[in-house]
Amino acid sequence: MKNLLSLLLISALSSCAGFGKKETTSPSTPPLPLAPKSTPNTTYVKPPIQQISPTKVTWSSGRKDLKIIAMTFDDGPHPQNTPRLLDMLRKRNVKATFFTIGRSVDLYPHIAKRIVQEGHEIGNHTYTHANLSKLSEANVRKELNRGRDAITRATGATPRIMRPPYGALYKNQRQWIKNVYRYPTILWSVDPLDWKDRNASVVANRLTTRATPGGILLAHDLHKTTVDAMPRTLDTLIAQGYKFVTVSELIRLSKQQPVTN
Ligand code: NI
Repeated sequence: MKNLLSLLLISALSSCAGFGKKETTSPSTPPLPLAPKSTPNTTYVKPPIQQISPTKVTWSSGRKDLKIIAMTFDDGPHPQNTPRLLDMLRKRNVKATFFTIGRSVDLYPHIAKRIVQEGHEIGNHTYTHANLSKLSEANVRKELNRGRDAITRATGATPRIMRPPYGALYKNQRQWIKNVYRYPTILWSVDPLDWKDRNASVVANRLTTRATPGGILLAHDLHKTTVDAMPRTLDTLIAQGYKFVTVSELIRLSKQQPVTN
């Protein structure tokens, strides 16, 4: 929270110093020269915020100087496990991101609707959980369009991010998906292998010990054991001072990084 406050303060200072002029610094631009430490800040204030390229395509984590974390749940909605998970999240006021399978959204549209109504984010995870790296461009489009349309039909919301099933997507595919759909490709920083090890305590241990600031945690609300792992996972991370954000919020915050000297 202290970091967040200082960030807000820095943003305020920076917009004052720039007299409304927008910085157009991109990663290819060398950092602006720093003012000598002795220079009084009445004559020069170093712009303290550097914009990260808005065109960054793949995200596995966000900025590491804020104690934020994004919990993500793939392959739902599931008729029992997802509502149970939503209750746990609501009780703790935790916002998460769900990468739903379009086919399951068509089966359980009321659950998808509840996800959005309760303030969580929904991302596109294709319609049939296809391995996109093995499909033609036309079939990738079909998967993404059908996945998106199922979400929009059920919730009224349009997904703004995607995660490829199995994390399988070539670099050139990620780029054209970004160009065509504006979706960044979302991967993860922690994979607890919860699909393989159906043990709540193992899953909770892996998630809580491997979580780091700016992390994107992967889990599957398809599995009962994963949902069973959530009370302990969430409560432990909350006690450690983490603030849960959606993936789009993590990206938004991470596009502005403080300049480190
Ligand atoms: Ni998946």
